[in-house]
Amino acid sequence: KDQQQADLLKLYADSAKMYQHILVNTELGEPALAYLRERGLDDDTIATFGIGYAPKNQLLLDFFKEHGTDYQLLRQSGLFIENQAGELRDRFVDRVLFPIKDASGRVIAFSGRILTKSPDEPKYLNSPETKLFNKRNVLFNFDLARGAIRQRKAVVLFEGFMDVIAAYRAGLPNGVASMGTSLTNEQIYMLERVTDQLYICYDSDLPGQKATDRALKLLGDNSRLKLGVIQMPDGMDPDEYLRHAGQEKFVQVFEDGKQTPTAFEMTYLRHDLNLQNTQDQLTYLSAVLNQLVKLSSSVEQDLYLNQLVQEFGLDKDDLKQQLRSMIGQRS
Ligand code: GTP
Ligand code: MN
Ligand code: MN
Ligand code: MN
Ligand code: MN
Repeated sequence: KDQQQADLLKLYADSAKMYQHILVNTELGEPALAYLRERGLDDDTIATFGIGYAPKNQLLLDFFKEHGTDYQLLRQSGLFIENQAGELRDRFVDRVLFPIKDASGRVIAFSGRILTKSPDEPKYLNSPETKLFNKRNVLFNFDLARGAIRQRKAVVLFEGFMDVIAAYRAGLPNGVASMGTSLTNEQIYMLERVTDQLYICYDSDLPGQKATDRALKLLGDNSRLKLGVIQMPDGMDPDEYLRHAGQEKFVQVFEDGKQTPTAFEMTYLRHDLNLQNTQDQLTYLSAVLNQLVKLSSSVEQDLYLNQLVQEFGLDKDDLKQQLRSMIGQRS
């Protein structure tokens, strides 16, 4: 059993080397290398993340067949697709490959990005789950980021691999991403063991904001992490913003743009409301007060109450009294 695990790990390590070699050193890899350069990745970054390329033809299968690799091992690896007749072919075809590593930095899966947009193929294709790879337990870049997370006493949680890589390029190495799914309790537990401060930096488009709202609730209920939210301007994701605005402005967002969860919610809650009408105003105020009730700091509460007073011309004592009655109902 342990032998089988070791064999799988070796297969993944060899595959990662193979894919990376194709990207960096061969003619087959040139379009993919050009694609990555276009996206701002230099040789160092490509090497650091071990990025590779799976070409259009069946390269991996032939390679392992030539080396006499055990057929059952190949089947179990998830690197191949099996047809009805029991024949294998490469799972990853014409995709840029991001190795997914466990906490010790061993490759346990791949995620492959398509080079050109296609309506009938997913943008990212992940390895299937195997004995080694359970995506609930994995955070992209956790192995490399762990030291930096400890040092900077904070982790930044991104939506996409390219966002983690963008942050790394800009000198922020303490970023991780979940595997294109929502955050799990297993991942929260991994992070809690190395830090007590987490910033969510998901895409600032509406889906990203919705995911931020969900993650805040999950983290609030299931962790003791201190939370913050960082949002790129204009609905961009971090990778887009870095390329659009440059490193200096990008880093500035991380320094100046940290929002409390409540400040984020006070903006987010508006997304499907029209605050020109009183019905929606009341909906909004009630939703915001529901957030404020949960705060333990009265100074923080006061800060937001002042904002409501300002924006809606309300009486502060009325708001406070409303809050107090809500707190009464809670306990
Ligand atoms: P780029 O276009 O390469 O910059 O990717 P992105 O990270 O900006 O993609 P997006 O914001 O659309 O999605 C965020 C994350 O969700 C990705 O990094 C993936 O992990 C995941 N994801 C996106 N599209 C797919 C998909 O088609 N299939 C799967 N399994 N995951 C996806
Ligand atoms: Mn998105
Ligand atoms: Mn994105
Ligand atoms: Mn992106
Ligand atoms: Mn809503």
